[in-house]
Amino acid sequence: MKRKQIVAGNWKMNLNFKEGIKLASDVAKKLPLSDVLVVLGTPAIHLQAVNEVVKNFSGIKVAAQNCHQSEKGAYTGELSLDMIESVGAEYVILGHSERREYFKEDNAVLAKKVDAVLAKGLTPIFCCGEALPIRKKKKHVAHVKKQLQDSLFHLKPAQFSKIVIAYEPIWAIGTGVTATPEQAQEMHKAIRKMIATKYSSKVAEGISILYGGSVKPANAKSLFGQADVDGGLVGGASLKAADFIQVVQGFDQ
Ligand code: 13P
Repeated sequence: MKRKQIVAGNWKMNLNFKEGIKLASDVAKKLPLSDVLVVLGTPAIHLQAVNEVVKNFSGIKVAAQNCHQSEKGAYTGELSLDMIESVGAEYVILGHSERREYFKEDNAVLAKKVDAVLAKGLTPIFCCGEALPIRKKKKHVAHVKKQLQDSLFHLKPAQFSKIVIAYEPIWAIGTGVTATPEQAQEMHKAIRKMIATKYSSKVAEGISILYGGSVKPANAKSLFGQADVDGGLVGGASLKAADFIQVVQGFDQ
């Protein structure tokens, strides 16, 4: 079975509205590239307009970078899934390490967010990954396993099959230090095995697992060439159309 290949950009808190629209249209004009699905994770305030830009192109969708787990209510400053869905976003990035670190999102709240995204019929891009001290102690696989167990493994197989996973080692995010293709492959393979053990090999074989952490034009091809790496979640290199397109081209055309 051929898994979906996905390259998602995570713009984080970068680009004003005008810059965001320009970037989205510059990227969309170059698509589709082969079978790769491109997802733009934009700031919330850009979502609707970026979706208007990309909806006339194939092979490109938009993602929110976070959501609230409740349906609606007195949560000043938060975004509900109804709002996100109503402007055409189909994906929601969840559990990014920056959300975990700066906004204290833990595995338990992320489990609720995952449920809420799936209930709305949208697709979570669930981020996991370890900090450097954990890797140094060789506890990285166990750390990621706990993240998946606590936030995802309550799902029924049919729900779980809709998830996209992004492995983002924290030490590689924004640092210029990329995991080697072998390090990425080791973890992706381990994640797939955890899924096979919990669910089935069939479910595991169908899940797209993206790598994130200093993905750039120079290393995309070697990372995406690994058997269990099904694409990337890209920060810095997603902010320039030419770089981002070159990353997408990291898949053999
Ligand atoms: P960089 O590509 O800038 O390292 O960021 C990765 C990331 O955090 C994507 O979500």
